[in-house]
This record gives sequence, structure tokens and C-alpha cells, in this order.
Amino acid sequence: MATLLLLPGDGIGPEVCAQVRRVAAALTPDLKVEEALYGGASYDVHATPLTDEVREQAIASDAVLMGAVGGPKWADAPRHLRPEAGLLNLRKAMDVFANLRPAYCFEALAGASSLKPELVSGLDILFVRELVGGVYFGQPRGIEDLADGQKKGFDTQVYTTSEIERVGRVAFELARGRTNKVHSAEKSNVMESGLLWKQVITDLHAREYPDVQLEHILADNCAMQLVRAPKQFDVIVTDNLFGDILSDAAAMLTGSLGMLPSAALGAPGKPGLYEPIHGSAPDIAGKGLANPLAAILSFEMALRWSLKQTDAADALLAAVKAALDNGARTRDLGGSLTTAQMGDAVLAAL
Ligand code: IPM
Ligand code: MG
Repeated sequence: MATLLLLPGDGIGPEVCAQVRRVAAALTPDLKVEEALYGGASYDVHATPLTDEVREQAIASDAVLMGAVGGPKWADAPRHLRPEAGLLNLRKAMDVFANLRPAYCFEALAGASSLKPELVSGLDILFVRELVGGVYFGQPRGIEDLADGQKKGFDTQVYTTSEIERVGRVAFELARGRTNKVHSAEKSNVMESGLLWKQVITDLHAREYPDVQLEHILADNCAMQLVRAPKQFDVIVTDNLFGDILSDAAAMLTGSLGMLPSAALGAPGKPGLYEPIHGSAPDIAGKGLANPLAAILSFEMALRWSLKQTDAADALLAAVKAALDNGARTRDLGGSLTTAQMGDAVLAAL
């Protein structure tokens, strides 16, 4: 029996994960769903956002689905023990280097975008963000005192050939099942790591994926093009930092951050880590206002990519579409459904 580890985490995480539990119980009753403390919720009990036990439990499961982490409550926790550090450590421990972030516009929501509906209707972008390298992990990093009384804060952006190749391969493979087009975004005009990124992607493409259409794009231009004419993109592969920023921008094109799931994948056969893209939204936590669809769609991705239950994934995606077509809207989508009522709508469509 396959195991899904739920890590509800903080803020709205537990509320949206509760709806995932209901969907899983109805759709995949044989799936064993475990739950563990994580993020600030774990810090409050164990003085760490990620215990060794939970890390091992995650590595031993078939898929991990996380709600959200962080919030003002833990702003003063030591930096290496903040909820966000627990998330980065979990990604690193699971070695989930390829973060798939679809920016997919549900037809019923084209009017909810900040762009004109015709610019986003039919939008289907897939970000492949490198997730366990780059400036978020590079050494050295720190804040140091300078002799003149100032301080110096510094981080290191670093990528090796193999780190770029393995995420590039994921992007090219996925492109083959879509429209066969990859944009690779970096800042090769100013950064050495960006230049290497471009060279490695170019070589990999020539060697193994000449059938895929490849375009290189500077990350700043990519940001501009995303809000100008987003439908020119299909798969966008980029590093950890640019992927973090560009995927937030793309997410908003689809109407709401509350809609978008993500999948972080490692080597074949290893468990994936699934997360809604939204944060813990402490301002609305506990009020039943959060949109559970990003978490539910993250479960859909887990079914598809880790649990190999394609039929169940297809049924769930269709149910979400049907719920939206029937007018189900939480507050972020301009409606008034509660978190649980949105769960009801998906269950009814299932
Ligand atoms: C994300 C988030 C995280 C990141 C934070 C919460 C550490 O912004 O998943 O995009 O920066 O990767
Ligand atoms: Mg982010």
C-alpha cells in the first residue's frame, strides 16, 4: 500500500490539508495517509521545524504533501530554525531538484486574472525550477562585521554542470509530452553561473534533445514577456532564485495564487514533495476562507507523478474543473465559499 505523508504545517496549511484528506478518502481509499508536525507547528513542540524522525518518515514515504510553512509568530526564531529553513532542509534531504510549477489557467477563471482574459485564456506554462542548489544553498554565506563598522551580507550563487544537466533533462523530457518548446532563463549577460547554465543547456540540447525547440531568454526579459504575452511560453527551465520569482508572477496570471500546485521531483523512484505555491496566509488562517484547490491540485500531481495513479489524477482534475464551471468560488476568486464548501464542491463533482 502506498503512503502519503501529509505535513499540514502553519497558517492555512492545516485547513487546506484537511480538504486533501477528504478527497483522498473518497478517491483513493487504499492510500495510507500519515500526518506529522512540520514548520512552526513542529518548532513550537520540538524546537525545530523538521525533526530527524519526520525527515526520515518523508524519505521513506511514496509522496509528501505539505500545506504551508511560516508566519510572523516565528519571525524571531533563530534563522536556521525558522519554518522556511525546515522547508529548504526537507527539499535538500529529499533531493527533489526539479520543481514543477504549472501556471495553468482554468477557463472559468480567465476573467479573474489581472491581465485581459484573451491574454490568459488557454494559458498553460510549466516552470521547471531548480530547487536544491543555487544561491539559496551556496556557501559561503553570512553577515560579517567590517573593520570600518559596517556589516557585509553575502550569499553565493553556484551551479555545477551536473546540477544544471539533471534539471535541464527534466525540462526537455516534459516538453516532449507538451508542445516541444523550452525556454531557459538565466542572466548569462552578467553572471558567471548564468553563463555556465546557458552553455550546459545548449550542450545538453544538442547532444540529447535536438528535436525540442530551445530558446534562451534573460530572466528579466522573461519577467517582462510573462506579463506582456504569456502564451508564448510552454516549458520554462530556470534556477532556484529566478524560478521562485518568475513562478509567483506567472501564478498570478492565472487569477489566484490559491489555485496553483507544485511538484518537486528527485531521481526516478524517489518520493516527490508536493506543495501549493501559496504561503501560510496568517491573515486569514483559521477562518475557513482559504482556497483549498492548490492543495487539492498538489494531491492531483502526487497521484500523477509519485503514486502512478493516472486515472485518479485525471478524475480529480476533471472534478476541480467541473466545480469551477459550476461556479464554485472561494473569496480569493471573488466568491463566498468557505474552505470546506470548496472541498464539498470538488467531492460532489467527483
Ligand atoms: C516557494 C517559497 C519558498 C522558497 C520559501 C517559503 C522558503 O517562496 O516555495 O516559492 O523561497 O522557495
Ligand atoms: Mg516563492
